[in-house]
Amino acid sequence: LRYEGGAHTLPLLTGTEGDRAFEAKTLLSQSGMVTLDPGFANTAACESTITYIDGEAGILRYRGYPIQDLASKSSFLEVAYLLIHGELPGPGELKDFSEQLRANAALPAEMRAMIDALPRDGHPMVQLGSAVNTMAAFYGDTVDPGDSAQVDRATMLLLAQLPTMAARIYRNSAGETPVEPDSTLGYVEDFLRMTFGGDSGSRELDELYAKAMDLLLILHADHEQNCSTATVRVVGSSQANLYGSISAGINALFGPLHGGANQAVLEMLEEIRGLGGDVDSFLAKVKDKESSTRLMGFGHRVYKNFDPRSKEIKGLAAQILDRQERPDQLFELALQLENRALEDSYFTDRKLYPNVDFYSGVIYRAMGFPTSMFTVLFALGRLPGWIAHWREQRLDPAARIARPRQLYVGPEQRSYEG
Ligand code: MLT
Repeated sequence: LRYEGGAHTLPLLTGTEGDRAFEAKTLLSQSGMVTLDPGFANTAACESTITYIDGEAGILRYRGYPIQDLASKSSFLEVAYLLIHGELPGPGELKDFSEQLRANAALPAEMRAMIDALPRDGHPMVQLGSAVNTMAAFYGDTVDPGDSAQVDRATMLLLAQLPTMAARIYRNSAGETPVEPDSTLGYVEDFLRMTFGGDSGSRELDELYAKAMDLLLILHADHEQNCSTATVRVVGSSQANLYGSISAGINALFGPLHGGANQAVLEMLEEIRGLGGDVDSFLAKVKDKESSTRLMGFGHRVYKNFDPRSKEIKGLAAQILDRQERPDQLFELALQLENRALEDSYFTDRKLYPNVDFYSGVIYRAMGFPTSMFTVLFALGRLPGWIAHWREQRLDPAARIARPRQLYVGPEQRSYEG
């Protein structure tokens, strides 16, 4: 069987039975072909109208709008509305959306008690995933995926309450008294206030932090079929309720290979600091085939060029770190590392450019978040993307329950004796 098209003529299936699958998979990924397989619609492959990525060109668009434009001209709430409803909101729609979110931000007393009863040293992502799952019990009249009004209400409750839950979980883990929402404040401003218990004393700095948080949430709001989004779709395909599907997405994101990358960048920067800040000898270790040292925050499975999200973040990181009382050594090291790696053909030939995770951790640290909260912040940003995918799938008449195909590679037959 051969594929003849585009720039490639490829023998797709050759050789013996045993190596066919591997060979076909390798050839398909080398040719950059993506297969939608409508004949096997329940294999978790999907069509989507939400996010477009061109990894070669470093392009990312939400509903057709370039991420750079959204990052500079819109707020996170506008982007959330866009992802979920397909259009940017008009001024009246935005006001309404924002007011509803703020009016629903407070958690019921029983839910507060439940969160407060969770082990304080349990990871915040474990607590968040558990709390979200229980929303199906607290809001039992909003769990029917077949009822649009219930889905809209569940969407609103999730968006309104995830920041309140995240801040409460953080305050509990820090041994601080939780702070209740203040519906007169903006979505992001109130999240920062509920988390840190007040303002920084400088209005300018508070505004900069709110702007940074808003931008980081926008940059994380969707990324087409990544691990957690695919998880939300797979779980939702069984017609599980929205809360359970989002909880599954949170747990997928918690895996260090997915949401933990910016934490790994900080750990790497700490390691370089431990080496006396010697960036060159660290890069030499990365290049050494015998060593297992990896350059974290560089390269991306999809982007073969700059991650468009990293460019937006870098400028912001510089602004925030300029405002710190003491210069942040880790940020200095990050800058040096980036400059050195980009001058080195070893990295550029391999298309290893900084990705979104390279700077986000440094910014969160400067704002005062502990590393255990980084993935929680990712979840706050990714929530509208997850919801948009879940809703898109729900409305797709061709959608069926996901059932990924498998290739059996175990023993053919064994006789059971005794
Ligand atoms: C994301 O934003 O989800 C990450 O870059 C991971 C991915 O796209 O697979």
